[in-house]
Amino acid sequence: MPNNEAKETRRKRKEMKEEKTEKTIYDLPGVGAATAEKLIAVGFSDLMSIAVATPAELIDATGMGDALAKKLIAVARSSLEMGFESGEELMKRREKVIRLKTGSKAFDALLGGGLETGAIVECFGEFGSGKTQLGHALAVSSQSADKDAVAVYIDTENTFRPERIIQLAKGAGLDEEQVLKNIKVARAYNSDHQMLLAEKVEDLIKKQGLNVKLVVVDSLTAHFRAEFIGRGTLAERQQKLNKHMHILMKLADTHNLCVYVTNQVMAKPDMFFGDPTQAIGGHIVAHASTFRVYLRKGKKGTRVAKLVDSPSMPEGEANFYVDETGIKDIE
Ligand code: GTP
Ligand code: MG
Repeated sequence: MPNNEAKETRRKRKEMKEEKTEKTIYDLPGVGAATAEKLIAVGFSDLMSIAVATPAELIDATGMGDALAKKLIAVARSSLEMGFESGEELMKRREKVIRLKTGSKAFDALLGGGLETGAIVECFGEFGSGKTQLGHALAVSSQSADKDAVAVYIDTENTFRPERIIQLAKGAGLDEEQVLKNIKVARAYNSDHQMLLAEKVEDLIKKQGLNVKLVVVDSLTAHFRAEFIGRGTLAERQQKLNKHMHILMKLADTHNLCVYVTNQVMAKPDMFFGDPTQAIGGHIVAHASTFRVYLRKGKKGTRVAKLVDSPSMPEGEANFYVDETGIKDIE
């Protein structure tokens, strides 16, 4: 038996090595196949996740001893190239950034020319404010952003509509069939499923060789909000959301793609001034999103996008409307 296990570990090690050149959790001392499985099962699938874990988390996940947990974290930390990049290298990466168009010039300008790849863009707002419409519009427009570009749509509320994609593709003068073909849709039935689907995007890129330029998660928070009710579950919910956001950020970063996530708002009845609404997910979602946009309904059926957080653009607002052909500027 132990022999078999050793063999299995060697095989897995080899497999993971072939897949990526970077070190894996199988390279950690004292981690056999069984421990590795346990770690992976709860999301500690790479060295980074171990390096930033606490010993208690590893102990909870695997039942390993305190000394080993501490050692693993230390080894993971030292073996990671805790990446410092020169400003010049960063600038080169910035030059590769592609900007996905919303359809409205004003909205694009608000974001510095469109939604950036390499970033998470969060839109939050009340029902009917246009979050899902923007997701559909981006799924179409992103395909013109790069050669053979593919959009991934993780649909948690069953609101993805291929009919709407056809309308938008027609509006943009694109071949509807081709556009539909290049959108990979998955329905997420609960928060765990949603997290798993986000992880699987990596396979689409690595194993199927797809040039994914956009990942939509609509809605990012609805399942989490529905499943974790009450104060007692808040910490667990935030922990899971945090992990989910990390996976999305890593996708955006390593594959130069844009992650677009939608988020609901909750009423804050104790607020007397300003807009009494607040995004779900608290500081975890807010902090992990590179750009944050608040969408609301304006006068006469228009919509207002307000940039509330961005690394390089000033706060501001843009007005637009949604019609059959897509997202449009107000004349
Ligand atoms: P929730 O998911 O309920 O929180 O809302 P949301 O922010 O995702 O709203 P969504 O993007 O679904 O907005 C739908 C709104 O877009 C509708 O209420 C319409 O006012 C507007 N809209 C305008 N033209 C069209 C159109 O041709 N098709 C569709 N589907 N919606 C349109
Ligand atoms: Mg929606």
